[in-house]
Amino acid sequence: MLLERIEALKAQIAELQANNEEALEALRIKYLSKKGEVTALFNEFRNVPAEQKREFGQRLNELKTLATEKINALRDSCKAGESKAAKIDITRPAAAEEIGTRHPLTLVRKEIIRIFERLGFTLADGPEVEDDLHVFTSLNFAADHPARDMQDTFFIASDENDVTRNIVLRSHTSSVQSRVMLSSQPPIRIICPGRVYRNEAITARAHCFFHQIEGLYIDKNVSFADLKQVLLYFAKELFGPETKIRLRPSYFPFTEPSAEMDVSCMLCGGKGCSFCKNTGWVEILGCGMVDPNVLDACGIDSKEYTGYAFGVGVERITNLKYMVKDLRMFSENDVRFLREFETAH
Ligand code: DAH
Repeated sequence: MLLERIEALKAQIAELQANNEEALEALRIKYLSKKGEVTALFNEFRNVPAEQKREFGQRLNELKTLATEKINALRDSCKAGESKAAKIDITRPAAAEEIGTRHPLTLVRKEIIRIFERLGFTLADGPEVEDDLHVFTSLNFAADHPARDMQDTFFIASDENDVTRNIVLRSHTSSVQSRVMLSSQPPIRIICPGRVYRNEAITARAHCFFHQIEGLYIDKNVSFADLKQVLLYFAKELFGPETKIRLRPSYFPFTEPSAEMDVSCMLCGGKGCSFCKNTGWVEILGCGMVDPNVLDACGIDSKEYTGYAFGVGVERITNLKYMVKDLRMFSENDVRFLREFETAH
């Protein structure tokens, strides 16, 4: 009889659960206190016949050990549970996710691309590690042109006698012009956004890498008037419908005639201010009619086709649109600067 009660209690105790200190204390009192069930069995031990005392004694001690260990184990897990609960405050609002913003150069590049896409230009691409043929020779650069010099161009091989000496980091996106012309026939109407490299000391006004967007249009009867009209549309879309443009004669090896384009100052509207150095104009790009030498060098018949080209600096346009004074800001990843463009688009 007593043995059965011991076994029943053992089974009961093995199943005990408590998830807080109070419930645990109640269990301790129920089983192990002076009036507890285990203690009660010890009290009955007196009545056990002497020859059975040894076995019962052993069983009772086992029961007591089991009960004590069980209560201790429950106390440990209770404590662990409570300290975990104390760390997690489920009523606290979740930490806000940090969402990045588009880089200002990305915003401006996309804006420029969208404007030219509306005019029917499609995107073209070329490698940043280029060869001399695409960057210089096919674009009518003379063999001794200063742009090929170490001061301007990054050469992949530093030894002048190295056979890979003609591999460079492209110094302008005009290299994509020659790629497209060499691989396709007119009509060609492309823009090419991309990164370019020049061996310059890094200052607020110059960097060893920056971004350009190249434009090229080749077909029959393309004239300078077409170029001017497209660039006027571009300037108005970019800086507003009041914007005026002017083209100043210039020189590039790959265009003839060549021009640089100014837009009316976006701060003073052309009246003259400190930003435009009182001229009323700010320069934004280079352009011209593709030199017949370039067409012929790239396998396009210059007697049949004419074309225009232009090259825009993305940093330059971004500086003008957002008044960024220091070029280095674009590549420093300072989130205080980047956050300023959160609402730009
Ligand atoms: N490649 C010139 C530069 O890097 C920019 C340029 C000027 C591109 C005139 C053109 C162009 O396509 O016609 O300074």
